[in-house]
Formats: sequence, C-alpha cells, structure tokens
Amino acid sequence: MPVLEFSLGSTAADKADTPCVVAGVFDVAFSPAAAAIDAASGGALTRLRESGDFTGKPGTTLLLHGLANVASPRVLLVGLGARQDFDARMFERACDEVGKALKGMPVASAGVWLPELDVKDRDANWRVRTCALAIDHTCFRYTATLRTPNGGAPRLSKLDLMVDADARRGLDEARALARGVAFARELGCLPPNLCTPTHIAAQARTIADEHTGSVTLEVLEREDMQKLGMGALLAVSSGSATPPKLIVLEYKGAGDARPYALVGKGVTFDTGGMNLKPTGSMEEMKYDMCGAAGVLGTFLSAVELKLPINLVCVVPSVENMPDGAGYRPSDVLQTHAGITVEVLNTDAEGRLILCDALSWTCKRFQPQAVVDAATLTGACVIALGAHASGLFSADDALADQLLAAGNQSLDRAWRLPLWDDYRNQLESAFADIANIGGKSAGAVTAALFLSRFTEGTRWAHLDVAGTAWMPGRKGYATGRPVPLLTQWLIDRSM
Ligand code: BES
Ligand code: MN
Ligand code: ZN
Repeated sequence: MPVLEFSLGSTAADKADTPCVVAGVFDVAFSPAAAAIDAASGGALTRLRESGDFTGKPGTTLLLHGLANVASPRVLLVGLGARQDFDARMFERACDEVGKALKGMPVASAGVWLPELDVKDRDANWRVRTCALAIDHTCFRYTATLRTPNGGAPRLSKLDLMVDADARRGLDEARALARGVAFARELGCLPPNLCTPTHIAAQARTIADEHTGSVTLEVLEREDMQKLGMGALLAVSSGSATPPKLIVLEYKGAGDARPYALVGKGVTFDTGGMNLKPTGSMEEMKYDMCGAAGVLGTFLSAVELKLPINLVCVVPSVENMPDGAGYRPSDVLQTHAGITVEVLNTDAEGRLILCDALSWTCKRFQPQAVVDAATLTGACVIALGAHASGLFSADDALADQLLAAGNQSLDRAWRLPLWDDYRNQLESAFADIANIGGKSAGAVTAALFLSRFTEGTRWAHLDVAGTAWMPGRKGYATGRPVPLLTQWLIDRSM
C-alpha cells in the first residue's frame, strides 16, 4: 500500500525548486505564498483576480505555467473563500481540491504552502498533518486486482509541506495515519473471494512481523472458540465454507498498565444468510469487514507512533452465507457470556459475532476502555448518511473523548441515545434477548444489544455503516474510523 512521502520545508514560494508550487488565494487577499508569487511575477495573480479568471472561490483551482521570476515551472492556485470563514473544514476542503488536481498532473512531487495558513483553533502540527492526509487520500488508488491501475500509474509520490514552525510531530502523525488509513482502505476494497477471515489474519500477521518485540498476534480457531462457548459467533459462520477466525493483536508500549481495547466487525461477506439480502444491495457487503479494517489500521498507526499505551485489537471474522449447515431464524444461541439469544433475523449477524468478541475481550483483558467499530446497521446510514459515524456509549466522559477526537481529526461522529427506554424492543419469549428490535431505531437497538455484553466495562460503539465506504461502483473504502480512533489514542497518551 504505497502512500505519499512527506517532508517539511520553509522556502519562499517564488524561489522553491519544485515541479509545482501550491498556493492558496482568499476572495479578497492572497496567502503569504500567493503574495510572494504575485510580487515576483510582476502582478500575475493580481491580473487574474481583476479579470475574474481566478477569484479565490472555494472549490476552484487554476494551474499556471512559466510565470516570470518564479523558480518552479508550475503554480497551482486553490480558492480558499472568505478569510473570516476559513476554518478547519474549509482548510481540509482546499487540500482535497489540491489533491484532485495534483493526481492528474505529470509531476512526481509538489511543494504545498497551505500549512502556513492560519486556521482557527488549529496549530502547525494539525495543518501539516491534515494537508498531507487529505492529499494522500485523494491520490489513493486501489491496485490489488488490476492489471493497470485505473487512471494509469500514479505519478505523484512526494509532498513538501511548507510551514514556518516546528511541525515534526504533525509529520510523524501524518506518516503513521497515512499508513493506517491506506491499510484499511486496501483491505476494505479487496473482493470477498480474496479477503477471507484467513486473509485478514494473514494481514494481522504482517503487522506483527513488522513490529516484533512490541506486538504479538494470536489467532483463535473454530475449536478454540467452541471451547470458549462462542455460540453466536460460530452460528454466523456455520453456513460458510471458509473458517472463522478470532484475531488478537497486542501492543505493549506502557509496561503493565491496563490496555485500551478495539474490536472490529469482520464479516468478509454478508449475504444476509437465510434472510437473504435482495439483489442490488448485496455486492456492497464486501465492505462489511470495514470495522475490522478500521481497528487494524488504527492499531498499525498507534504502533508506528510508538504510543506509550497498551493496546489490544480483537477482530471476529466470519462470512455470513446461506447453507444447509447455516443458522436459522428462530434458532436460540448460547453466547460466551452465558446469555441466550433468539435469532429473529440472520441478517443481524454483526451483533452476534461482536457480542462474543466483546464479552471475551472484557473478561480476558480487563481493558480500561473498549471501543468497537462496525458496519452494523442500515438504519444508521438513514439517520446520519455518509458524514458522521453513529456513536453510542453510556459513559459520558468516553463519549466526549471520542466526539472530540472526531472533531480534531475531522473524522466526525454524532452521539445517539442508548437509553433503557428502547430495551423492551429486544425482548424474546424463548431467549434472554432477541437479535433484532423491530422497525424503529434500528441503530439504537443494535447498540443496546451490544451493551448487554460489555456490562462492567467502559465501552463505546461506533456504527460506521455510512462512513467506512462510499456507495456506487467506483466507491472505495474510506479508511474511517482510523483517524478518529488514532486521535483518541494519541489523546490518551498525553
Ligand atoms: N452489514 C449490515 C448493515 C449495513 C447495511 C451496512 C447497509 C452498510 C450498509 C448488517 O449486517 C445488516 O444487515 N443489518 C440489518 C439489520 C436488520 C436485519 C435488523 C439492516 O440494517 O438492515
Ligand atoms: Mn447483515
Ligand atoms: Zn453485516
């Protein structure tokens, strides 16, 4: 998974030896870099503004060639809008536009002067990191199963981030996060005939092998899970020809402190099982392991940053298939926690693999907090769309930490209720709990189901069904919630 190379610089924009200078333009003012280019070139940018050819409107870019007295052969201008409105999101948006423009240009590297801009409440580290990650994100190309990458081989490989402050921390975070996000995206995009539970375990192995000494891997097999009484996880897997895995990565960066735990839904393909999904929505269910990809990517970023914490990452991974050996609606399952579950819909499988993984993680590791990420419900997509992940927690302090991490990384979440009032929707006549809660508040009842298996542990749930991947034939996995979760762990390391 190649990511862009990043470095820091602080040359004057008109004098820099780079194939392309990237400079921002506000609607009524130039950024410092644009002002330097304008002055060196005898007012070239002023004339463009006066003619109306480039006015600094947000979302616009303009590529200029061969400006007089400018060392670089190319200047890419990007509109920043009104200076008084220029906030963190506008900054990120401008970086996205730059990425889209650079992606198609015949340059191997570029010098980007956006991190020198003032952004309300954000420091130079943040500006460097956000700029690097945004451009890297737009330049991502899935390659694993293509003879030639779509759009040809990418040319851009290096970014120089120009800033007049010490931003080495931002650079380190950008490098670590770019790797974690790319890992999650590549794994999320991989088709389900290749991305099996066995493959995800092999990917976890590569993380462990790259960090021997601080990281250990354990993979529980079907027999191990049988011994542990994980009847819910195993039932979901029972219709599949590919074996289930419970993947456990441990990172030690803080002696014997209690660990933080991340748990990710790793359904490598969700047909719905006996409650088969209709045509038109099934092929997207290759993305149903994006929670797993997200926690593994976060784990990779945290380890690369050598954060002074202990961390465990647990991924229950299965395929949900209809089969003669498959589980049925009305089956009653015995979970690892001892709670019995009536299956009223085999398509509500995510909570069934997560409940066993969560209760086992709480018992085995006694984590100081556990956060799970899962493409859990279509209802969450209806509620929040593609912009916010659904956040659920009974612990206000933990919820606030995660919301803050989302705002800081711009990988945002929105809190939804986890009130007892919804609990009777999960009542069953034949088991301690049913696996679905009826038509209303589907994202809430799914989260409430999980809450029953984490009692006694600080726990939060992120429903990333709408945020972890983009719908449509050319949609990719997004790498979310890697930025949010990594930021949360960075904040815990302070
Ligand atoms: N993986 C799906 C949730 C999903 C749906 C993710 C759409 C992304 C986009 C999950 O396993 C599922 O099928 N959930 C059902 C639950 C229902 C049967 C209670 C749903 O949301 O329809
Ligand atoms: Mn399902
Ligand atoms: Zn699913």
